[in-house]
Amino acid sequence: MRVVSGIQPTGQPHLGNYLGAIRNYVKLQDEAVAAGGECLIFLADLHAISMPHDPKELRASTLELVATLVACGVDPSKAILFNQAQVPAHAELQWLLNGTARMGWLNRMTQFKDKSGKNREGASVALFTYPVLQAADVLLYQATHVPVGEDQKQHLELARDIAQKFNNDFASEDNPVFTLPDPIIPPEAARIMSLRDGSAKMSKSDASDMSRINLADDADTMAKKIKKAKTDPEPLPSELKGLEDRPEALNLVSIYAALAETSVDAVLADHGGQGFGAFKPALADLLVARLGPIRNRFVELKEDRESLDAILARGAAQAREIGIPTLKAAYDAMGLIRG
Ligand code: TRP
Repeated sequence: MRVVSGIQPTGQPHLGNYLGAIRNYVKLQDEAVAAGGECLIFLADLHAISMPHDPKELRASTLELVATLVACGVDPSKAILFNQAQVPAHAELQWLLNGTARMGWLNRMTQFKDKSGKNREGASVALFTYPVLQAADVLLYQATHVPVGEDQKQHLELARDIAQKFNNDFASEDNPVFTLPDPIIPPEAARIMSLRDGSAKMSKSDASDMSRINLADDADTMAKKIKKAKTDPEPLPSELKGLEDRPEALNLVSIYAALAETSVDAVLADHGGQGFGAFKPALADLLVARLGPIRNRFVELKEDRESLDAILARGAAQAREIGIPTLKAAYDAMGLIRG
């Protein structure tokens, strides 16, 4: 079992990132270690340059995300935690895979269409070839399991297509260069929605800070954001059915369920009949209880640049080592002489 996943260091990490991705990393790191495998978690800083960015902010976000991941429970003695920029093999392998990936495949990627929008001509080339770098990220390590959100499934399928074509073109069936990775989309990857609009995902790019709970928010701010969250005047139903057409109410109950590690039905069985005047304070208390300790660790670690640098350096050294045989096999298979 080799788990590999990346997360982009852009913007402030929020509750949606925690419940949808980061918490799952912590579970997988423990599972991988128990199975005698490895778990590699990296900061996709090379992906972050596919959109216009400010260098100072990228550096700060990268360090903050390391602090966040560790504060959330990613343990550098169990998982290999690093940033792409310190492992040149990612960029090298991407170039090799650019020979295998087809224009037609990349043209079908919905993320490129979404992110380039009406300005395709002005989009960076990196945004277009982004999925090839993502393929290199996982193929370099012979990943077997790749935890991703629903929105990244298409990129994972592309990674499989690239691996398959490369193996076909340059390797033999019984001695493939790359392993075909399987995506794992966490069942509880509860789509955590904006606190201001139950139909939009909670997002770091939302202009309103009131729309999301940042992992760096203090207890009072979290409580205030829950108190001000959009709702409707009805009390909570006692069954899920009663939340149809009530996206904001469903979102708050889903957040509660995810934090309590239980089901929406179980939350409604307990809180059905309550109005938001009673439910919101209960949710705020739970939120602060779960995120408070994470925030405290984050605030402390964020200031400790030496520790953060040391974590990344150690992770990168381990990752470089693991990637050596596959990168060599890819060069060799293509007939590239490296002496
Ligand atoms: N594209 C992913 C995202 O935005 C981040 C990512 C980069 C990634 N490389 C990866 C995820 C490799 C899984 C595996 O969420």
